[in-house]
Amino acid sequence: MVELIKGDTPIEFIEGVHPVFRTAVRVVDAYRSGFVGSRLDTLLSRPNQVRRNGFDQDLRIDRITGQAQDVVAVDLVAPDGSELPRWLPGAHIDVFLPSGRQRQYSLCGDPLDRSRYRIAVRLIHDGGGGSREVHERLRAGGLLRIRGPRNAFRLAAAPSYLFIAGGIGITPILPMVRSADRAGIPWRLLYLGRDRASMPFLPELEPYGSRVEVRTDDVSGLPDVTELLSHNLSGGAVYLCGPTPLLDGARRLMPGGTREELHIERFAPPPVVGGVEFPVELVRTGQTVRVGAQESVLAAVRRVLPDVAYSCQQGFCGSCKVKVLEGAVAHQDTKLVDDERADSMLICVSRSSGPLALDL
Ligand code: FES
Repeated sequence: MVELIKGDTPIEFIEGVHPVFRTAVRVVDAYRSGFVGSRLDTLLSRPNQVRRNGFDQDLRIDRITGQAQDVVAVDLVAPDGSELPRWLPGAHIDVFLPSGRQRQYSLCGDPLDRSRYRIAVRLIHDGGGGSREVHERLRAGGLLRIRGPRNAFRLAAAPSYLFIAGGIGITPILPMVRSADRAGIPWRLLYLGRDRASMPFLPELEPYGSRVEVRTDDVSGLPDVTELLSHNLSGGAVYLCGPTPLLDGARRLMPGGTREELHIERFAPPPVVGGVEFPVELVRTGQTVRVGAQESVLAAVRRVLPDVAYSCQQGFCGSCKVKVLEGAVAHQDTKLVDDERADSMLICVSRSSGPLALDL
């Protein structure tokens, strides 16, 4: 089983691998505040060589509009009004917020509209501060540095598509819906949410009529993953972006070797499996934290250093790279090359079974 998650995964690598494993490997993965992450699993574990198909540039915030409860869309344009680089459904951009935080958000506008990029961000009240910064500090007319677009959640060719989106997970799915519809490929969208007030872009979906089914917990109860997947046509591809229980349930029901193809986008960090507790000394601050068996080093460090840098939380962006002064690291990222692994780690995913000392 393979999970592909957005980030520095080279585009040509994904395109080359995907068909090769078409029969043996079926799962592609990525979802969260609109914030996306990605991880490339063992079969694809050669060091990533980053190839960017976009650029670093300050874009002007054209407008910020409320799309649902706690969700805003941010439209970005080139300051000189020029066209922006092309992108395909599933692409994301890195956003460098005024505080220095780096976050990644799916592009959810129309790929044919070269005049703007649109992202949507749900306010995560207990999150790391990125979504709050977007909601509270960004203003129309201001500049925002971005990098990208990049894409690790591509819409593969298929005879039909079943799209399943949970809440803000609609962001990468929306351009896919547009593309499939324009191409005349049969598709259906099951759009899930707590209630309609919390679900962005409902008006944009209205023209698609009965091909879009909106299900809310307050009316339909919690979703039944088996039932959701039963709507996939034989041989069709399933694109799923939503909360972790939904993704995990789908992965259990569509393991490798089934006829269908499941593509998942994960926003939340992957769960720690088989971890043990260990201490981490933060040498510069003189504090020691204990990393619980089921938490990341990043989560433990954030208890004492809440502003420590991070972004994807899935081991692909490199934002959380820290020098290791002592101890053996079990690297679980898809970003660092061997030279870097000799003295550094990505604390969002990599762990240890014994004490570590970090340059923090
Ligand atoms: S936060 Fe992206 S690699 Fe750790």
